[in-house]
Amino acid sequence: MSETNGLMEKVVSLCKRRGFVFPGSEIYGGLANTWDLGPLGTELKNNIFQAWWKFFVQSRKDMMGIDPAILMNPKVWQASGHVDCFNDAQIDCKDCKKRFRADHLIEDALKDVKVEGLSLEDLKKLIDENNIRCPGCGAKNFTEVRKFNLLFQTSIGPTTANSEPVYLRGEIAQGMFVNFKNILNSSRKRVPFGIAAMGKAFRNEITPGNFIFRTLEFELMEFEYFIKEDQWEKQFDYWVKEMKKWLELIGIRKEKTRVREHTEDELSHYSKRTIDIEYETPFGWKELYGLAYRTDFDLKKHQEASGQDMSYLDPETNEKFIPHVLEPTFGLSRTILMVLLSAYDEEEVEDAKGNKEVRTVLRFKPNVAPYKAAILPLMKKPELLKKADAVFDVLKDEFALDFDITGSIGKRYRRQDEIGTPFAITVDFDTLEDQSVTVRDRDSMQQDRVKIAELKDYLKNRV
Ligand code: GAP
Repeated sequence: MSETNGLMEKVVSLCKRRGFVFPGSEIYGGLANTWDLGPLGTELKNNIFQAWWKFFVQSRKDMMGIDPAILMNPKVWQASGHVDCFNDAQIDCKDCKKRFRADHLIEDALKDVKVEGLSLEDLKKLIDENNIRCPGCGAKNFTEVRKFNLLFQTSIGPTTANSEPVYLRGEIAQGMFVNFKNILNSSRKRVPFGIAAMGKAFRNEITPGNFIFRTLEFELMEFEYFIKEDQWEKQFDYWVKEMKKWLELIGIRKEKTRVREHTEDELSHYSKRTIDIEYETPFGWKELYGLAYRTDFDLKKHQEASGQDMSYLDPETNEKFIPHVLEPTFGLSRTILMVLLSAYDEEEVEDAKGNKEVRTVLRFKPNVAPYKAAILPLMKKPELLKKADAVFDVLKDEFALDFDITGSIGKRYRRQDEIGTPFAITVDFDTLEDQSVTVRDRDSMQQDRVKIAELKDYLKNRV
């Protein structure tokens, strides 16, 4: 399929049409850059999360999963540096009042210019010297470039006067750092070990956009892996490899990904080395995941600010030290988008009369597919519906299933192809006689006749 052929538009349209993603608060005209996951998007997200949890948490002896709170004591965000350093460079058009991220404005106007790590003054100079115009109104009348803090603020209690702001978490990581001692004391884990979590994160982005790629609230899965300092380079290489295995596990196209090293100037305030795993989207190479060596920055800062001891006592050597940290971070919302972009395919096929038509298929790996199989009674006859119900009951405890009785069988196959269901199971009149069903494979469109008694095993071997 030609990639330049409106792939993004096609995926966005399919997501709305089939119930993966809807615009947020749509009946009120929406709220910019907020999105709601529909029934299929919710299944897809849960499947990705469950696969992640299994791969990085449950199948490892050195990982513990937690579910920390979104609201935290504001001192956490002061100590972590987010109140002072979690900023983007903002610039406004004085004419049309539109707001932009200065680095994005430059990157969009001047291809191949490196903006990472440039000072606010240097960004403004680049904009002025290159005569960059406002994408909104075309004017060349910008404000100075200013810092804009990304943390969302709210307040607790009925009155806001004099109350200290509380922040919606900008990353999950801090919930793991503040629980470091709780985990050590309750689990008796020994370094090296990790703490993992997933959930919503919030960022007051200046220029969100590109569908669910950059939003104000998004889902994040990440873990903090606590190590001895001298192990960090070895561990860094190890986690890059594990992250690549994960991409393969969920069907992200390898040829669409690359690793990009952060330059010295670009590193976050807590990081000594960071790489991004980028994906080639229809709107350019973009960050999908990150891996950062956060040193002992966070635990040390929390020790200083809270007065609590954050050190670890090695029971074998009696050595006491503050562990260093590697942090692989996985945007779950972005994963949903990249899995969709990777899976989307169109192919020319012939219908029953020999006419050529385009078949749209989401070639999801079965582990992430919202439904593993669809049960399709051939016609709306009571005896077929009853038998289809019985087939549903045989499979429902082990497989997520769709049940579709509307439209011709051909249309129903196409609908299941479009939502990426690996198998379609047709219950027909012969089923009533031979206790067998027709199982159609989404990718090859091959059909097998399978005994209902053997259907569970048939699917188990394939999804
Ligand atoms: N704890 C480290 C951390 O938060 P980050 O690179 O700032 O690192 C982690 O963010 C991941 O979150 C990114 O790799 C990306 O996948 C995702 N992400 C960041 N901002 C986002 C946004 N506004 N909308 C959707 N996903 C976002």
